[in-house]
Amino acid sequence: MCGIVGYIGPQTASPLIVSGLKRLEYRGYDSAGVCIVDGDSLTIHKQAGKVADLERVVDLSAIRGTLGVGHTRWATHGLPNDVNAHPHTDNDDAIAMVHNGIIENYLTIKKKLENAGYTFRSETDSEVLAVFIGMLYKTIGDLERAVQTALQEVEGTFGIVVVSTHDPNLMIAARRGSPLILGVGQDEFVVASDAAAIIAHTRQVVYLQENEMATITRQGFTTKTIANEATHSVVEEIAFELEEIEKGGFEHFMLKEIYEQPVTFHDGFRGRLRVDEGNVRLGGLSKVQDRLRSAQRIIITACGTSWHAALVGEYLIENLARIPVEVEYASEFRYRNPIIYPNDIVIAISQSGETADTLAAIREAKMKGATVLGMVNVVGSSIARETDAGVYLHAGPEIGVASTKAFTSQLCILTQFALFLGRMRDLPAEAGRTLAQGIAEIPDKIRQILDQSDAIKEIAMTFAQAPNVLYLGRGYQFPVALEGALKLKEISYIHAEGYPAAEMKHGPIALIDENMPVVFIATKDEIYDKVISNIEEVRARRGRVIAIASEGDTQIDRVADHVIRIPETQAMLAPILASIPLQLLAYYIAVERGCNVDMPRNLAKSVTVE
Ligand code: G6P
Repeated sequence: MCGIVGYIGPQTASPLIVSGLKRLEYRGYDSAGVCIVDGDSLTIHKQAGKVADLERVVDLSAIRGTLGVGHTRWATHGLPNDVNAHPHTDNDDAIAMVHNGIIENYLTIKKKLENAGYTFRSETDSEVLAVFIGMLYKTIGDLERAVQTALQEVEGTFGIVVVSTHDPNLMIAARRGSPLILGVGQDEFVVASDAAAIIAHTRQVVYLQENEMATITRQGFTTKTIANEATHSVVEEIAFELEEIEKGGFEHFMLKEIYEQPVTFHDGFRGRLRVDEGNVRLGGLSKVQDRLRSAQRIIITACGTSWHAALVGEYLIENLARIPVEVEYASEFRYRNPIIYPNDIVIAISQSGETADTLAAIREAKMKGATVLGMVNVVGSSIARETDAGVYLHAGPEIGVASTKAFTSQLCILTQFALFLGRMRDLPAEAGRTLAQGIAEIPDKIRQILDQSDAIKEIAMTFAQAPNVLYLGRGYQFPVALEGALKLKEISYIHAEGYPAAEMKHGPIALIDENMPVVFIATKDEIYDKVISNIEEVRARRGRVIAIASEGDTQIDRVADHVIRIPETQAMLAPILASIPLQLLAYYIAVERGCNVDMPRNLAKSVTVE
């Protein structure tokens, strides 16, 4: 939700900020803006639309000045128009601020400021904070203290960067609830919402902590809490390479990420899976091993695609480890006063590690005494830091807004976690070995599916113009049906629903006619025959059937209009393989419909507001 970049150093700030913003556009692309401090004036350019749109109307590279901030917005308060775009300034146009988050008490502060004669140009909560800082500066005469005092009164979440003409050698950054990272270069500093905007300049970073602020000059930086306590910052190294956040010859990040899956899946089990022992070593969980052994219940909490992975996890853990599992939308979990017992394990699954609802859910669980684990992709993210222990996905940076490789990596980790728990209890070594061998074979099988992408594209074309699509699956494949439908609606804007195949009879069947494509995930397992019966029910109503089926299945041709075959594997692993053609179907349909695949409308990759 909103990308922020700030720069102070010897270089011209604007081009550097713009290239950083482009790397953060996955966080929001409703508007873009930059503010550069040059001597005693602020140069601001901002407008609705993407960074490239702003570049088309202004030559941003021509702006002089070595201190500045930039912002790419995902609108919360106020329309995505030019006026609401960041940066926002105080009433003297001397202080400029970019903000990611929500100032919840902005109306109260706004009223107070209006009563004191201050005015507002935008409808945003962010401008209120900028004007508030300006007002405080007038009496305090010190930018750092003015920012700190304002933030002590603010409720809600923020990642902010502030610059001003009062001191062209000073940049202030602060966070609560929204991530901010400080890149520490040679006499230069870059503040950004994500390391992706920093790595081109330096690999050395400081992750700002909750309620921490940094005062950055051209010589160095200091940190403290917003409540004015001293803090100690640790400089860490960024854990990925620059090439990983570039398209590498692919037309879209999403396609690149789909094609990365043989490698990213392998990275999820490399050094962990012990095929000979039929077991897994998960170093990140060693300190909670005893608590895992005595766990009586597991609650998995997540949002979006990660929630779908959690559903597969529920089936896996219950089946292999015989521990009851509940899967909760993080946004619901937090607000319904959940019952948590001291020996419950709560697992947060998150690609970004920054999703506000998931973060709030784990805080609630921790407060109630649960052991909280994370399955997170982004190293050093808030969820990774706030959990008691965890396992990283190691999928590398995922830039496409629609999650693909992170989903299969989540399944990779969940399968290993279930195997690990199962072996701790009563899963026999032989069963463990069979599953571990199956996991090890997955990367090659993903490659075989990717080799069929031309055929998948052809099938995609047959329903690229459909207004609605139904996705059906049973057992382990039910969450995959949900995920297939989500992928399609996210990037192609086709209305799509996922259902357990047998539930179709209780409602969705009313929608089926010759215009309704129905994607069935009909891989060979113990409920295959039941799924075939469900397909027959759709055919009887002249629905068009696209089936994801197992290699060697000839029966399916009799009932499906189109068949995509995936290599055979164990039922528990089949969701991983079945999700690949569904990603490709959604991708090719979205491209055919001329949609912006990597930046679908209204969405953002990292949802840091509740
Ligand atoms: C957003 C993204 C989804 C993602 C969800 C959860 O909605 O667009 O792709 O699945 O957030 O994000 P997380 O980073 O917690 O997995």
